[in-house]
Amino acid sequence: MTHSEALPQIAALDALDRAHLIHPVAPWRVHEKRGPNILTGAQGIWLTDGKGQQLLDAFAGLWCVNVGYGQESVVQAAAEQMRQLPYATGYFHFSSEPAIRLAAKLVQISPASLQHVYLTLGGSESVDAAVRFIVQYHNAIGKPGKKHFIALERGYHGSSSTGAGLTALPVFHRGFDLPLPTQHYIPSPNPYRAANPADGQAIIDASVAALKAKVAELGAENVAAFFCEPIQGSGGVIVPPKGWLKAMREAARALDILFVVDEVITGFGRTGPMFACDAEGVEPDLMTVAKGLTSGYVPMGATLMSNKVYSAIADGAPKGAPIGHGATYSAHPVSAAVALEVLRLYEEGGVLANGQRVASAFGQGLDDLLSHPLVGDSRHRGLLGALELVSSKSTKAGFDAALDLPNRMAATAYQNGIVFRAFGDNILGFAPALTFTESDFGLMFERLKKTLDDVLAAPDVRAALKD
Ligand SMILES: Cc1ncc(COP(=O)(O)O)c(C=O)c1O
Repeated sequence: MTHSEALPQIAALDALDRAHLIHPVAPWRVHEKRGPNILTGAQGIWLTDGKGQQLLDAFAGLWCVNVGYGQESVVQAAAEQMRQLPYATGYFHFSSEPAIRLAAKLVQISPASLQHVYLTLGGSESVDAAVRFIVQYHNAIGKPGKKHFIALERGYHGSSSTGAGLTALPVFHRGFDLPLPTQHYIPSPNPYRAANPADGQAIIDASVAALKAKVAELGAENVAAFFCEPIQGSGGVIVPPKGWLKAMREAARALDILFVVDEVITGFGRTGPMFACDAEGVEPDLMTVAKGLTSGYVPMGATLMSNKVYSAIADGAPKGAPIGHGATYSAHPVSAAVALEVLRLYEEGGVLANGQRVASAFGQGLDDLLSHPLVGDSRHRGLLGALELVSSKSTKAGFDAALDLPNRMAATAYQNGIVFRAFGDNILGFAPALTFTESDFGLMFERLKKTLDDVLAAPDVRAALKD
């Protein structure tokens, strides 16, 4: 079917979407009026929409399609697994070859402390499982008072009923009775907003001091764990100074609280190495992953844990009693088969190495835009990056919300054939596929610059600039 033939069908889909489909993290009534951007196809780094427009995807879907679209070997792996064994429960001691191989592979490639893997359906469920396992762990070791969790301001840990309280973004709390009284935050290690952005050690020291102070305030005997993203993604791609993760790991150890690294975005080459933990030799007690695990081709995540945590839970339950956590689709064989092929592409397929090779073109392209009148900050690690738009480069002040800059950036970008994330607070997030070439980046930055120029051309935006 050509795209012009498809148009009437798209109009019908548009109406059905507005009437029936609830979209994640959307303003529902606004969506009914606005309608969806319906995607109909994808290849490489390109998306196609229902009107036949080609869009350069600078966000890998939702920071997940790390291997790019249209990887035929991944499709084959799913199809073969569906033909052979489309479903196998993990309950009642059943198992399947792809799930077993995937667990072993994840243990092989992840930090050495992590020896056991619980396979989930995505990031939120991985975080939720981690929280449940941590509660079970402290009860099992006879420290039932340890029920409080500490996370970072602006952190994102998904939107499960508990995990959304570890997420420190107000929109995930409002009307949901969160955070819980057991959920607490310490400030983000945000160099751009620090007193001296160049003094990385001061930023690290401030985070360590904040964690120590929060634990002292709550009482170490009451604190279960510290959760963090190595680079905060949905909070605006906040890149801490090198050494921050390691320092926080050591602080958590000294404070006798579990250290949980949420690598849902940063995992699988997004920041360069397979995991962001690897860059600093960090060995967490638990780690959550998803997104790049299957590159978004099918849903899957994982919660990895150390021997210490696993053994305490295993031996803490009454003899022979099950540990009551699981789901019908835990360790789904089709998702596991896809993950194994995606992991093969990262390693043998050279995708990880390509991502590392082109990261300098990505970083340079973002940094070059610092000269643009709208751009106050450029930050990045590997292929994860952001530009922060400000009304004054000297004061770093943002923009009046009435200007609706994020929606205008997103709409203009769409017209210019590029998709990225325009966060509510004027931060633009980028997470290109690890398969990007230098010339793909050339086109991406051409379109991004044109988008910034087009938005700046609006008289009200120009007038809002204070410098
Ligand atoms: C760090 C982090 N944790 C957890 C999640 C939740 O993952 P999911 O959307 O797959 O439930 C996300 C999603 O963006 C994330 O970025």
